[in-house]
Amino acid sequence: MNLIHLAGIKKFYMNNNRKAYVINGISLKVDKGDFIVIMGPSGSGKTTLLNILGLLTEASEGAYFLEEKEVETISAKRRALYRNEKFGYLVQDFALMEEYSVYDNIILPVKYFRKRDSRKNLKSKVDILMKEYGIEGKLKDKVKELSVGQRQRVALCRALINDPEIILADEPTGSLDSKNTEIVINNLHKLNKAGRTVIMVTHNQELAKHATKTFIIKDGRIV
Ligand SMILES: Nc1ncnc2c1ncn2[C@@H]1O[C@H](COP(=O)(O)OP(=O)(O)O)[C@@H](O)[C@H]1O
Ligand SMILES: [Mg+2]
Repeated sequence: MNLIHLAGIKKFYMNNNRKAYVINGISLKVDKGDFIVIMGPSGSGKTTLLNILGLLTEASEGAYFLEEKEVETISAKRRALYRNEKFGYLVQDFALMEEYSVYDNIILPVKYFRKRDSRKNLKSKVDILMKEYGIEGKLKDKVKELSVGQRQRVALCRALINDPEIILADEPTGSLDSKNTEIVINNLHKLNKAGRTVIMVTHNQELAKHATKTFIIKDGRIV
């Protein structure tokens, strides 16, 4: 069973009453346990594709099968649950809430989660993750007080709080030095080895070396 199957996906935005295609017929398959790397020039549609995969954006045309269910036929409510339960997101510059505490940042995806964890349960989940990523003791610190390395760990904890099967990473190392890049990549590989599927956009050729599949995108198409 394919975890993900995109069949002829297109996405357009209206521009002066004309359709401007940003994704122009992408078909691909992702298996459970894949480490997918997506590369391509800026503006080629990589982020849009990740957003479609992560159910943040709907495709305009074509079919998206998630675990063999066509996404379009899933109710909006269930889709929102899938978005939170199945996917963890890691983006460039982390997109953390600077004024919030580490704890509040990590539990952000939980607020929209079905199985509302009891507070105690949640706290212990956060504790376990923070310990695993070496930021225990930072729970109440505001994110703006943290180093780049610590932020990136907070972002990882946040991506993992709902125990997602699939991690979507959009240029997660784009603004990091080589040491922090290595840490992020090692962590993604570790998560992949532990059974999670990783789909990562990157410009870094080196990082593509360990991918199970690599897709190069140009002008909204796989080349
Ligand atoms: N909401 C939107 N409305 C109109 N155009 C958009 C929107 N989002 C993205 N685009 C356009 O789609 C193209 C691809 O963007 P994006 O997926 O972010 O590319 P990449 O991540 O490869 O740099 C760009 O030309 C961008 O301007
Ligand atoms: Mg992008």
